[in-house]
Amino acid sequence: MDHQDLDQAAIAAAARALEAGALVAFPTETVYGLGADAENPAAVAAIYAAKGRPQDHPVIVHLAPEAPLDYWAADIPQQARALADAFWPGPLTLILKRAANIPDAVSGGQDTVGLRCPAHPVALALLRAFKGGRGGVAAPSANKFGAVSPTLAQHVRDEFGPDGTVAMVLDGGASQVGIESTIVDLSRLATHGPVLLRPGHISAEAIAAVIDQLPSAPDAAAPRASGTLDSHYAPHTPVAMQDSAQLRLTLAELAAAGRKVALIHYSAMPPAHAALCLPATPDGFAHALYAALRAMDGQGADLILVEAPPQEGAWLGVNDRLRRAAHGSTGIVHGLLNSSAPGKPA
Ligand code: TXA
Ligand code: MG
Repeated sequence: MDHQDLDQAAIAAAARALEAGALVAFPTETVYGLGADAENPAAVAAIYAAKGRPQDHPVIVHLAPEAPLDYWAADIPQQARALADAFWPGPLTLILKRAANIPDAVSGGQDTVGLRCPAHPVALALLRAFKGGRGGVAAPSANKFGAVSPTLAQHVRDEFGPDGTVAMVLDGGASQVGIESTIVDLSRLATHGPVLLRPGHISAEAIAAVIDQLPSAPDAAAPRASGTLDSHYAPHTPVAMQDSAQLRLTLAELAAAGRKVALIHYSAMPPAHAALCLPATPDGFAHALYAALRAMDGQGADLILVEAPPQEGAWLGVNDRLRRAAHGSTGIVHGLLNSSAPGKPA
């Protein structure tokens, strides 16, 4: 389809499928979501089953811009309304006290709910068509639990296949932002202030400019968020991150040892088994990151080596995702250098 022209028939069919309790994958500006009717516990349970996700992880409820917040959340602070006014539709999720009618399946048994209005024409059209715009679509990222989030419809098809688990995949082209929404917890405002549960395209500073308070880093009692597990967003191939100078040395050493490296970089680098050069800006890098991890995962390499991005604030979301993708790969470079490569004499 032409991504500029909304396919109204496909959107109507997707809305009817959601209303009937089926799973529908749809594009958002961050990543693709795997959606179900948030008020249908069996449909929400089907998301967990499809993803292989633990039952106690809450899912975000996606709303049309006109949907009444009070139907979904209780005790809504004025800061939440201010942030929704400033950033919705957009890549910001608000954690609020949940209203009584939110099924346990959506909140993972917690007393809060995550709400977001996405800024993608296909997502907005779907949310407006579903239950006449008054429904909520529960949707985690449309990937298996712990895997890299999808930023193309093809990524979703690769992840779930044609077995009918996912009734429809709406194609809205490449997700523009490329990493998941910023999550701010406002459910414990009186005692903890605003808390940044997951960094993203909308920065803590941009949030502070609206509510006059800088969100703090999560404490031990902060609500659980699966995207905040140490290991997440991980391809099958091990991932390591190194700064530019170290990475040049490592590339030479691994090549000499007969190891295959798939390289994701943004400055000039020597050749590798496979390589993708990403834009050297936080937004450009984030936009391309997940597709790059998927592509490099398919290169039959021993290792995906990523040039560590700068540490400045604007790169926080990208650094957060890369750190989780690389989690558990400590010592991997050392291990590859100190054991023999297949087909190479020891
Ligand atoms: O950009 C996004 O947020 C994408 C698109 C599809 O909207 N969705 C997404 O969903 O990233 P998911 O499930 O992959 O990540 C949502 C995160 C999880 O870490 C989940 O635990 C957290 O939001 N979350 C949802 N509801 C919550 C709640 N009530 N309290 C704390 N964390 C919550
Ligand atoms: Mg996810």
